Amino acid sequence: MGLKHQAPRGTRDLLPAEIGRWQWAEARAREVLDRYGYAEIRTPLFEDFELFARTSGESSDVVTKEMYRFKDLGDRDLALRPEGTASVCRAYLQHSLSQQARIHRLWYMGPMFRYGRPQKGRYRQFWQVGAEIIGTAAPGADVEMIALFVDLFDAWGFKDLTVAINSLGTPETRGQYAERLRAWLAPAHDRLSADSRQRLESNPLRVLDTKDPDELGLFAEGGLGPMPRMIEVLDAESRAHFDAVLAGLTALGIAHEIDHGLVRGLDYYTRTAFEVHDRSLGAQSALGGGGRYDGLIEALGGPSTPGVGFSIGLDRVLLMAEERGFAPVPAATGIYIVAMEATRLAVPMLARALRQVYTVEYDLEGRAVNAQMKAADKSGARAVMLLGEEEWQRGEVVLKDLRAGTQQTVPLDGIVDALDTLLLGEGQGTEIP
Ligand code: HAM
Repeated sequence: MGLKHQAPRGTRDLLPAEIGRWQWAEARAREVLDRYGYAEIRTPLFEDFELFARTSGESSDVVTKEMYRFKDLGDRDLALRPEGTASVCRAYLQHSLSQQARIHRLWYMGPMFRYGRPQKGRYRQFWQVGAEIIGTAAPGADVEMIALFVDLFDAWGFKDLTVAINSLGTPETRGQYAERLRAWLAPAHDRLSADSRQRLESNPLRVLDTKDPDELGLFAEGGLGPMPRMIEVLDAESRAHFDAVLAGLTALGIAHEIDHGLVRGLDYYTRTAFEVHDRSLGAQSALGGGGRYDGLIEALGGPSTPGVGFSIGLDRVLLMAEERGFAPVPAATGIYIVAMEATRLAVPMLARALRQVYTVEYDLEGRAVNAQMKAADKSGARAVMLLGEEEWQRGEVVLKDLRAGTQQTVPLDGIVDALDTLLLGEGQGTEIP
């Protein structure tokens, strides 16, 4: 029988079996972001289409090919958010956050939407965790951002990453660089794909973003001479900024490498741009990236306000963490209550009291003890609390440690101590209110 409905192409259900890993990754991220003193911000999943068109770039892939754009019943031109930075800046302006503090450190986590061709590590709905510092142009902010970026990966178990970094200078620098790129590629014009030829007109830097193996070969083979480098055309201030960022990273011992071909896929970047990749992911190898966007808030009609930030793709992080065995399956801490015919009625009340503190499950269908024991095993519980008829009359229960295979009889008023010893280790008392 064919199913009538499946999750839309490029989207996934995150089922209970894998949700533990996601919660683990999210919790580690929150801890790190909290220790860095960043505040969470939550913005809508959809915004005016124009917000993204204006910031990501009219000719970027994200806007021209990947946008979930729609009209609502009130004929508004909206889009599911492809990324978070534009929304954060919009909220920053809309709520005049600049009046509350000069510098804001913000983070967000949630689904983003891009209509790309689905493949390993690329989805149409995917999750990002991101952070932004708005309100300072100091290179120290870029360094803090990259340190936070690296420390998030570190908290997930990725200890060996190298940050690829480049400077994209100012819009003027990029204009000059675009001219150099055009000149460099002119002799090979006929060998470029139609896509790249078109990009050479509309957005020349994006040509370097090609995934086409023939083109990548062409760029690398040396026949065209050395590829022009952005840092050759950097203005003095951008150059000094870049040097300060590199020195800051070196001082912190953060492994980094200048990547002269790094241009990023969104158009709002100025000066610093960075990414980390894991090549074993294949074509979609970027685990995260970011950079400075000193012109973005002004482009939204606000006062000139610098910003720097990054986003990390959680789907890719989880994929890699699982492949590398980083994401642990959470330890079993639950209790399964098993009752006899004579004690069954006591279970809901006992369970409800214990659920103030512990994770508790029990059988809802009045099944035989054997079936309940099997269910307890399957549930992944750490302990079984068996309400035997005689024990119950004496005010006792039997506590079975499913991991150690041991059991003990415990008086009802000693249950909490016994459970704490079993589940948490000695000496950590808990009070049930
Ligand atoms: P981005 O490089 O477009 O940057 O995306 C960041 C990360 O999101 C990527 O490195 C990747 O891990 C993940 N990602 C992107 N598209 C997909 C997809 N289709 N499926 C799965 N994962 C994906 C931004 O979004 C900027 N907002 C980063 C930023 C913040 N720049 C400054 N502040």
